[in-house]
Amino acid sequence: MTDRTITPTDLFPRGPASGAMGLIELLRPRKTQAAFSTPALLEAADAVDDGKPLIELRNVSKTFGATKALSDLEVSIRPGELVTVVGPSGCGKSTLFNILAGLEEPDAGNILRLKGVSSTASDLLGKVSFMPQRDLLLPWRNVIDNAIIALEIEGMPRAEARKLAMEMLPEFGLAGFEKQYPNQLSGGMRQRVALMRTFLFKRDLMLLDEPFGALDALTRTMMQRWLLDVWQKHKRTVLFITHDVDEAIFLGDRVLVMTARPGKVKLEQVVDLPRPRKADIVTSPEFIALKKTLLEAIEEESMKSFQVAGH
Ligand SMILES: Nc1ncnc2c1ncn2[C@@H]1O[C@H](COP(=O)(O)OP(=O)(O)O)[C@@H](O)[C@H]1O
Ligand SMILES: [Mg+2]
Repeated sequence: MTDRTITPTDLFPRGPASGAMGLIELLRPRKTQAAFSTPALLEAADAVDDGKPLIELRNVSKTFGATKALSDLEVSIRPGELVTVVGPSGCGKSTLFNILAGLEEPDAGNILRLKGVSSTASDLLGKVSFMPQRDLLLPWRNVIDNAIIALEIEGMPRAEARKLAMEMLPEFGLAGFEKQYPNQLSGGMRQRVALMRTFLFKRDLMLLDEPFGALDALTRTMMQRWLLDVWQKHKRTVLFITHDVDEAIFLGDRVLVMTARPGKVKLEQVVDLPRPRKADIVTSPEFIALKKTLLEAIEEESMKSFQVAGH
């Protein structure tokens, strides 16, 4: 069973628009340099860490038929930052991630820059690691083989990929579980397998779309602390969508609050809390003051989207 070949149908059980964005899409081989040298793009040359943002979006809009999902969105993420994103349901958060993962092209007139190099969204395909809103573990593959899917599709020999993943298991709290199947794991463990897969697909930018959304409060708190540990150890740049304001503050260097649809950045709040952060930081006056500011901004936008929805 584990040797079954992955087909697009396996990864898009309900079609690519179902929200379960497929891994095959994400991992399509990069285009060659010649293929993406569209005029007016590639304005900058070398991609080096010289204080430039890792990723920059200017004036980004996205329209689906009659629905304007994003409008004039401006985002800039520095290398090594952990930036959290909150906003009302339907404001375009997942659409933003789909653009950054190269799965959706924004409307004309936008500017997207990766390490200073102007790009189309499709140029980003395969250059970021993405954990979509649903965990997409394949039920017929055990923990280790789920973790290595991205590497396998990239062409790494299975034995080599398995060895890499085995070494990572203890850090992800999965030692001894390599042979288990997804239905034998708790929700927290399934999330860790999905996160391990995202980490194993080593890219400068990691996009995590509500990775802990389905977990109970206690597991969630544990996972947050664990994520901070692995993030600090691996020094990755992370963009993290959440519904939970406490989570946004606890994890983030900055919190981006999005407006009701069409989504743009309403507030960029720096979280100036020392790291490493302990669990009890949530009761500090600084944390509570930040939470108050953010909740006010979010509530205003949630009210708007509620009214637009005709309630
Ligand atoms: N592929 C698509 N086709 C049509 N409409 C879409 C598509 N993807 C998203 N939308 C619409 O765009 C808006 C933003 O959706 P989404 O980005 O999923 O919001 P969020 O993640 O903030 O809840 C919604 O109104 C949604 O219905
Ligand atoms: Mg979403």
